[in-house]
Amino acid sequence: MEKLDIKILSHDIQGHPTHELALSVLEGLSENPKKLPSRLFYDDKGSSLFKKIMQLEEYYPTKCEAEILKANGGKIAKHMKGKKFNLIELGCGDGAKTITILNSLREETKSFDYVPLDISQAAIEYLYQNLQKEYDQKIPFKIYGLVAEYFQGLKWLSENASDQNMVLFLGSNIGNFSRPMALRFLRHLWHSLNPNDVVLIGFDLKKDLDILYDAYNDKKGVTKEFNFNVLDRINKTLNGNFDRKNYQHQGLYNVQTGAMESYLISQCEHEVYIKDLDKSFSFKPWEPLHMEYSYKYLESDIVDYATSTGFEVIENYKDNKGYFVDSLWRVIK
Ligand code: AVJ
Repeated sequence: MEKLDIKILSHDIQGHPTHELALSVLEGLSENPKKLPSRLFYDDKGSSLFKKIMQLEEYYPTKCEAEILKANGGKIAKHMKGKKFNLIELGCGDGAKTITILNSLREETKSFDYVPLDISQAAIEYLYQNLQKEYDQKIPFKIYGLVAEYFQGLKWLSENASDQNMVLFLGSNIGNFSRPMALRFLRHLWHSLNPNDVVLIGFDLKKDLDILYDAYNDKKGVTKEFNFNVLDRINKTLNGNFDRKNYQHQGLYNVQTGAMESYLISQCEHEVYIKDLDKSFSFKPWEPLHMEYSYKYLESDIVDYATSTGFEVIENYKDNKGYFVDSLWRVIK
């Protein structure tokens, strides 16, 4: 069996991944209101919990995007017709949604190398296994896995981009970014790419609040577990003593920010000691710990994001319910 060609960038920076984790936990818990960065969700356990979230009945984005890619994969692939290119996927996860587009691209284009990037190595390895299954152990294109954060991935891309590139940023992964962060990210992406390169970005649209609420407060409690896993992760890697009994989880739509926001809400007065930081953090009753933003968009926001960062919208593809958009952009230079 062939082995996956994989490069780990996320450990390169300081040599010590926990060092960076410690710093972001210290910063976040020292702030008022307290917060933790959402990338802490995605250790190997968290990535596997997110896989479960994607299978939940209430979590519509995955289903909508699968429908969109199935219906429009061919049309999307035609924009790379006859070309030889790099296909870079940012935050690939388990790749279930990618297989449709990979197959459309195989039909329409000459050849491509596939570069899946994720902060979880286990996610990339799982994706590789999925592809081996899909193609009967003979994956018909080169794969080069990158374990990296988004900005590390963009740096890699600017140094390694081929003449023609297609970038996938699916699943409304962009939704974790505030508008300023998203614009910064998209400008970086633009700088890393060549004229006429193409990007496909998933955006979750604003919709009925009950549907949003259910998607982020599922009945089985997987989303709750996904949030508590961040506390477990801190306990494990930094010797903390978070006790999940002290918190209630809730996802809320914030009408001011236009995002679903996830909180762990303290249920009592208590202290959390994190040995590796040699520091205690006190929580008041009902004090919120902010865990995540999932921004929701209007179609006009999508055009605004594209044109503010050097892209042109080729086409927006929507599911039948009109819940989700995969937006195809071209790099203008
Ligand atoms: C992976 C960031 C797109 O915001 O919907 C799912 C993560 N959080 N349920 C999202 C998530 C809670 C997801 N993204």
